[in-house]
Amino acid sequence: MKGIILAGGSGSRLYPITKVYSKQLATIYDKPLIYYPLSMLMLGGIREVLIISNKETIPMYQQLFGNGSHVGISISYAEQAAPNGIAESFLIGEKFIGSDGVTLILGDNIFYGKLDFLYKALSYKHGATIFGYRVNDPERYGIVEFDKSGKAVSIEEKPQHPKSNFAVPGLYIYDNSVVGIAKSIKPSPRGELEITDVNNVYLKKNSLQVEKIGRGVAWLDTGTPEALLQASNFFGVIEDRQGLKVACIEEIAYHMKFISREQFVHLIAGIPKSLYRIYLEKILHEEE
Ligand code: G1P
Repeated sequence: MKGIILAGGSGSRLYPITKVYSKQLATIYDKPLIYYPLSMLMLGGIREVLIISNKETIPMYQQLFGNGSHVGISISYAEQAAPNGIAESFLIGEKFIGSDGVTLILGDNIFYGKLDFLYKALSYKHGATIFGYRVNDPERYGIVEFDKSGKAVSIEEKPQHPKSNFAVPGLYIYDNSVVGIAKSIKPSPRGELEITDVNNVYLKKNSLQVEKIGRGVAWLDTGTPEALLQASNFFGVIEDRQGLKVACIEEIAYHMKFISREQFVHLIAGIPKSLYRIYLEKILHEEE
C-alpha cells in the first residue's frame, strides 16, 4: 500500500497566514499541520509516501522531511501545476502507485482517537473504502446518503440540500483500479477532477465501502482561523494533560519499528535543543 498526501491548494481563505507558506505548514499547537496526516499514514504502516504540492512549496516540505529516511520511510515529491482537483493525484502519482493500492489523505485533514477504522479499512484487499463522519455543516463537504439498511446509495459534492449529515473526510483507501478510474472521469463544472466522482464510479460498481466513524474519533477542520485555533487548543490540552505528543512522527517511527533504537538516538542528537527534543529523550528513556 502506497500513501499520497495532497498538500496543494492556494489556501487563500486563510490569507495572510498563507501568503508566504502553504496552509499545511501552518502551526497546529507545536508542529506543522502536515505532521498530522503524515502520522496517520505511518500509523497505518505505510512507508512509501508521495507528497503532492505546488512548485513553490515542495522545497519547504523537502526541508521539513527530506527523503524520510530519518523516520524510516521513503518520501518523494511531485508537483501539481494547478489546482485541478483531488483526483488528479492518481494521474500525477501513477508511476509512484505502480501496481499497488493507495491511501490518499488530504494534507489539511486531522484525525485523533482510536484508529481501528483505519486499520480495518487497510486490511481490505479490493475496491475502495471511504468514511462517513457526522458534521454540523454538511454543505461544505462530500456527503453520503445511506438507505435504511445503512448501505451508501449516493455521494454528492457540497450539496445545497444535503441528504444526510455524514461528510466524507479527506482519507480514501483504493485498490489499483483508482488510476484507471481517475483517467476516465471528466472535470466538474468548477474545472476539477472530483474525488466524489471517483467514489461514485466505485459505488456504481458496487465496490465502495463506506464506514461510519463513530464519536470516539475527532476529525478536525482547518479551513478558517477559528478552526486552526480550536485544533491548536485541542492538541495543546491533550498533550499537556498526558505528557504525550500527538502526531510526533519521530516517536511513531520508533514505536512502529521503522527505525532502530540506535537510529532513534542518532535522530534525537540531530534535533536542536528544544522542548520537542526533550520530549523525544523522555520517550527514549521511558523505554529503558
Ligand atoms: C474536499 C472534498 C470533499 C471532502 C473534503 C474533506 O473538499 O472535495 O468531498 O468532504 O475535502 O476535507 P475541499 O476541501 O476541496 O473543499
